[in-house]
Amino acid sequence: MIYFGCDYYPEQWAQWLPEGEARWATDARQMAEAGFNVVRLAEFAWALLEPAPGQFDFGWLERAVEALAKEGIETVLGTPTPTPPPWLLAAHPDIMQVTTDGRRQGQGTRRAGCANHPAYQERSRILCAALAERFAANPNVIGWQTDNEFGCHDSAICACDNCARAFRSWLQRKFGTLEALNRAWGTAFWGEVYTDWAQIPVPNRSVADRNPGHALDYQRFSSDSWAAFHNAQIAILRATCPDQFVTHNLMGFFIQLDYYDIAAGLDFVSWDNYHHHGATPATIAAAHDHMWGVLRRNFWVIEQQVGHTNWDPYNATPAPDTLRLKSWQGIAHGADGMLYFRWRQALAGSEQYTMGLLDAAGRKTAMYAEAAQIGSELKALAPLLEGTSPQADVAILLDYDSRWALALQPHNHLLHHQPAGDFVNPSPALAVDRDERRELQPMVGRAHLLWPFAAPYVALWERNVTTAIVSPKSDLSKYKIVIAPFLNVVTPAVAANLHAYVEGGGTLIVGPRAGFKDEHNRIFAQPQPGPLAGLTGSTVRLIDSLEPERTNVLRWSQLPHTHRTEIGLWAEVLEPDAAQNCTPIAYYSTGWYANQPAITQRITPSGGRVIHVGCLGGPILYDNLLGWLLPLLNVEELQAPVAGVEVAARTAADGRRVVFIINHSNQAHSLTLGRPLVDLLTEQRHERSLHLRPRQVVVYAEAPQG
Ligand code: GLA
Ligand code: ZN
Repeated sequence: MIYFGCDYYPEQWAQWLPEGEARWATDARQMAEAGFNVVRLAEFAWALLEPAPGQFDFGWLERAVEALAKEGIETVLGTPTPTPPPWLLAAHPDIMQVTTDGRRQGQGTRRAGCANHPAYQERSRILCAALAERFAANPNVIGWQTDNEFGCHDSAICACDNCARAFRSWLQRKFGTLEALNRAWGTAFWGEVYTDWAQIPVPNRSVADRNPGHALDYQRFSSDSWAAFHNAQIAILRATCPDQFVTHNLMGFFIQLDYYDIAAGLDFVSWDNYHHHGATPATIAAAHDHMWGVLRRNFWVIEQQVGHTNWDPYNATPAPDTLRLKSWQGIAHGADGMLYFRWRQALAGSEQYTMGLLDAAGRKTAMYAEAAQIGSELKALAPLLEGTSPQADVAILLDYDSRWALALQPHNHLLHHQPAGDFVNPSPALAVDRDERRELQPMVGRAHLLWPFAAPYVALWERNVTTAIVSPKSDLSKYKIVIAPFLNVVTPAVAANLHAYVEGGGTLIVGPRAGFKDEHNRIFAQPQPGPLAGLTGSTVRLIDSLEPERTNVLRWSQLPHTHRTEIGLWAEVLEPDAAQNCTPIAYYSTGWYANQPAITQRITPSGGRVIHVGCLGGPILYDNLLGWLLPLLNVEELQAPVAGVEVAARTAADGRRVVFIINHSNQAHSLTLGRPLVDLLTEQRHERSLHLRPRQVVVYAEAPQG
């Protein structure tokens, strides 16, 4: 079953329109006409559901669920905890978060409650329990979305007194003794030795950079605080609503919360797919794959941007067919639910400038028409998609400890992180001809912390290789290639997992800055990559953080075909150990470390292969490696690369698969086909070649291979 629908705010329309609730029937009918079978409701409606403490008004929500059900539309209910009501904040103004520079957040918006405030926690639990009891047996409510986008608006970290107290207990549980804490944080530096738990500050405004151990633990504590806040709700819903699913809407590459922890108790994750300025089809694909990888199962896009937003630096109206391309892309990457944000443009509130499927006047927009077309296509395709999901041979590891450690100490101005976790477009030339892009290789002024991560992903995406983005703690045994692009922090468990993977014959690509830090964010007392050195067979002799104008070019050896590879911002000179069967495969060609190794390869006694990339390169660096490795390791490229055309697949347990060809570009393209295909969207048969119109989507089914 593919769930298809929108995010709907019946309470707003009841207040804003003269006909009040009577409008709901019209909305529901127009939704049904677009093929919708689900809506999400109520995630901000606390004040309307509990107008005074303990006084619940759920009748209107029941009537809304009913109005939708009359048109065959099921409901996902939000627990409305991102918006504690004014009466609660009036009684407890200190629910509002305190920023790390000591200012209390103002009331009147959303998301700024402190996860560690006892009254906020308690009232959230009371409301969730009451909602759960009332709707558990409602046959039209199929599931729950907890809260809304934990951490959004930079709200993951609070520095209030409640948090300071909770942090100290968290540290006590973690370290047991102050001696252990002092050792872990290395507090002998700058004489920071603590002799009482009460002395430990929250890492708020300070003249110099904080102790990295202290700062990393506060990040972890903050993430844990929201996970605990979340788990309290999940526990209530599980106990009362065993037949309804529980999900939460994540935000793609958002950096401030460890999504593996936040999502651990969910049935599946959902996420909100907004196309930030600078996003490309490849970076959006990466976000889908990351969301798939959080629980390693299919997910929902529970908010798919339909029109312009109100918060981007430039709020462009998406061109015709954008919704179509984004929707099919999401489904191709494993979305089993696709809900559009929002049904109708708001008349009031701060998001008036966010466009809906209907505009403010209630007119159907072009996006409504696109949605309706997708709705009818999905109805036909849904049975084929049943039981299918992306099956990857290649995994990229994404690790929050590492992201946080690097964000705390980027060591290069251009590697600073973006709070929302957006990519600054790492490859702006994606839309241009691929060979041209090789010459344009953008390196300078475009990087930030996701850049090392994006480079291998984009190279794989261009070659139409299905890629999973997963935790370094997950089972890696089924992957033919594992790439660890910025595995800065390596815990003993992660080191053991990677050792086991290579021991089992796997191919591991370790990126720059790997294995610099231990779990306490201290530099290892052994050469980098620390506990991975036994795997790479090479160590880091020196690191160089490059100014944007000082790039280098690699000189490759051993690889059959390579393209000119410029690198920048980060260079490590590697020392391969021949005794461990490790040899250089690329050297720096200029500067004072010219002719010294930049990339090494080791073949292990068990037949594993470890490639150590010491420098920061773009997709071309990885394209060179992949052009050689993919055929060697029998990794399938679904289609030869065509600029702007993405090919992705969902596979069933029996090998049957559904393949999606998505022409994101404004150009027509002709693809050569290995075998004939029937486009399920048009029922047209294509024998040897497929002529793709600009922005066309083609979907076809394939019987199990060989
Ligand atoms: C987020 C939120 C929504 C809404 C949209 C607006 O993703 O979840 O409530 O604010 O953005 O773009
Ligand atoms: Zn707080």
